[in-house]
Amino acid sequence: MMSKSLYLSFQFQIIILLSTLFIHFSQADVGTASHYGPPFLPTACFGGDASQFPSSNMFGSAGEGIWDNGAACGRLYEVRCISAAVPRTCIPGQTIQIKIVDRAQSSVSRPSSSDTSMVLSTTAFQIIANVSSSLINIEFQQ
Ligand SMILES: *[C@@H]1O[C@H](CO)[C@@H](O)[C@H](O)[C@H]1NC(C)=O
Repeated sequence: MMSKSLYLSFQFQIIILLSTLFIHFSQADVGTASHYGPPFLPTACFGGDASQFPSSNMFGSAGEGIWDNGAACGRLYEVRCISAAVPRTCIPGQTIQIKIVDRAQSSVSRPSSSDTSMVLSTTAFQIIANVSSSLINIEFQQ
């Protein structure tokens, strides 16, 4: 039979586990992402200034949900692929960090899918998913 203190410690671990999960899910948002390629200039954020693009090419444009009247410009997001219509589209265990450099609604180069939470550069997208997919479900967090 389990001793009372062991039982309490077990209960305590469950509580810790549940709070960790709760904190994890409450910080991240779930949404969608598509991808886009060049040309990227000019942008709604930085005009013709190419120096605002990270040299890693890990960037993206903001969907209307996160655009925040332009406040999204320069924000960094951690993004992870969670699912897609075609099985095995997501590359397991990959998380990327991207910088918002444009507004998806007005980007020069059009997204592979419209009205997504964000649009990732091809370089960024291909790290977390098969790039032949035009739309994926993501978890993202600033
Ligand atoms: C990516 O998806 C395409 C189309 O579904 C498929 O033909 C290809 O094998 C996939 N690539 C990888 C690396 O899984």
